Amino acid sequence: MDKPPTAFERRATASQIPSTVSRVVLIGFMGAGKSTVGRRLASAMGWECVDLDDEIADREGMEVPEIIRRRGIAVFRAVESRMGREVLRRRRAVIAVGGGWPSEPGNMDLLGKGTLSVWLQVSPETALRRLARSRAPRPLLGSPDPLAQAESLLAARSAHYRRAALAVDTEGHSPHDVAARILELLRSGGARAQAAQAGEGMLAARGRAGEL
Ligand code: S3P
Repeated sequence: MDKPPTAFERRATASQIPSTVSRVVLIGFMGAGKSTVGRRLASAMGWECVDLDDEIADREGMEVPEIIRRRGIAVFRAVESRMGREVLRRRRAVIAVGGGWPSEPGNMDLLGKGTLSVWLQVSPETALRRLARSRAPRPLLGSPDPLAQAESLLAARSAHYRRAALAVDTEGHSPHDVAARILELLRSGGARAQAAQAGEGMLAARGRAGEL
């Protein structure tokens, strides 16, 4: 576990964040590391970290897998989209959304002004390896052939993920490295961040984590 940043480090970091960016939204497949990277990035920036699945669990009084099991995936998607609209109003927040959120109609259109969206990329194999260590079950990968299921889900979702302003490859990189890479892109990419705010979609700077 790394030492959390000091207040001084956070202030120094905050002064390097382009003022046009009010929130960072992390998207990507299950197992990409959105929640862990989100916590690290938010801590480094001195911002709030918001995990959409946790917000839903708090509001509904049950964990996401249980909502899916008891009420069905369609109800979960409706709740997820509604709560997503709410959390996307927050400022000075790093927001991790669930892997299926970007595919729901209209959701990616919400990532407009003031929002920097980042796609954390992961292969289906690595995602499954990471998820095997996670305590939270993923009902959408519960088939007898989770790899085939992950491959087909990722193929269906990639077009939506690709709409993020930035993409960072997480393969072989720790959450710390990935968060550091995003910070670096934020600090150096005022212009790119501004372009993202205008909703221009994926930009040329496809950051590879670990090149710091
Ligand atoms: C889902 C991803 C999960 C959670 C739910 C459905 C998906 O979140 O929202 O199990 O459809 O990809 P993570 O991406 O944080 O695992």
